[in-house]
Amino acid sequence: MMHKATAAHVGIIMDGNGRWAQQRGLARAQGHTEGLKAAKRIVKAAADLGVQFLTLYVFSTENWKRAADEVGPIMALLKQHLRAELDFYRENNLRIRHAGDAGGLPPDIQSELAGAIEDTKGFSGMQVVLAINYGGRNEIARAVRRLFAAEAAQRAAQGGGGGFSEGDIARFLDNPDVPDPDLIIRSAGEFRTSNFMLWQSAYSEYYVSQKFWPDWDRADLEAALESFSGRARPFGGARAG
Ligand code: IPE
Ligand code: IPE
Ligand code: MG
Repeated sequence: MMHKATAAHVGIIMDGNGRWAQQRGLARAQGHTEGLKAAKRIVKAAADLGVQFLTLYVFSTENWKRAADEVGPIMALLKQHLRAELDFYRENNLRIRHAGDAGGLPPDIQSELAGAIEDTKGFSGMQVVLAINYGGRNEIARAVRRLFAAEAAQRAAQGGGGGFSEGDIARFLDNPDVPDPDLIIRSAGEFRTSNFMLWQSAYSEYYVSQKFWPDWDRADLEAALESFSGRARPFGGARAG
């Protein structure tokens, strides 16, 4: 009897907010407001569909290149919603986590983020990893820095110390207990990672949707999960059958 593979960890590169707004003659910031509504729809759908970990690419280390009249409203949305969505988190039993360089965020966003993480640490349902000021290369660089610091401390304490393994680096990534993503979805038709989970995506399946992110709904997530469930994943081994 065949069981359909389910994606335990889904990552989403939520792209196309700007184009969605521009098509309607609206400011790009309006696209981000609609994008937030889509994110809430998809978080709820993912939890209902049994996804255990959902990583949302919210703001990249490169997105600071954008104009102040776009970055400002994005930060304002984060400030307004990150912690204030506690009822939504509670209703859906969501545990909020963060990936990225928190120290590079404005202090008010840092404190809202820390508050959301603290408020939801006891919720036992789906874990939602918010990638904010996140870059895959930045994460690996920070991991290696932490690894060197830990190694130096150990060498000072006991002498010796050897080379670093893949596992050593993985242990110092932002959320080492979170399994690698099974499926990475990108909306708005672009076929690139844009620096999302470079280390963890070594064997992730990709799914690209043409729809702009603000137009996403439950059926789009279901279609992505359905596509995933039919794929063979040999992980470098010989394909069965
Ligand atoms: C994704 O939508 C949201 C962020 C990167 C913050 P975009 O704003 O990149 O939308 P497009 O790609 O310009 O349409
Ligand atoms: C990736 O989208 C970042 C997020 C979705 C937060 P971008 O729109 O920034 O990526 P590029 O610039 O098209 O590669
Ligand atoms: Mg984009």
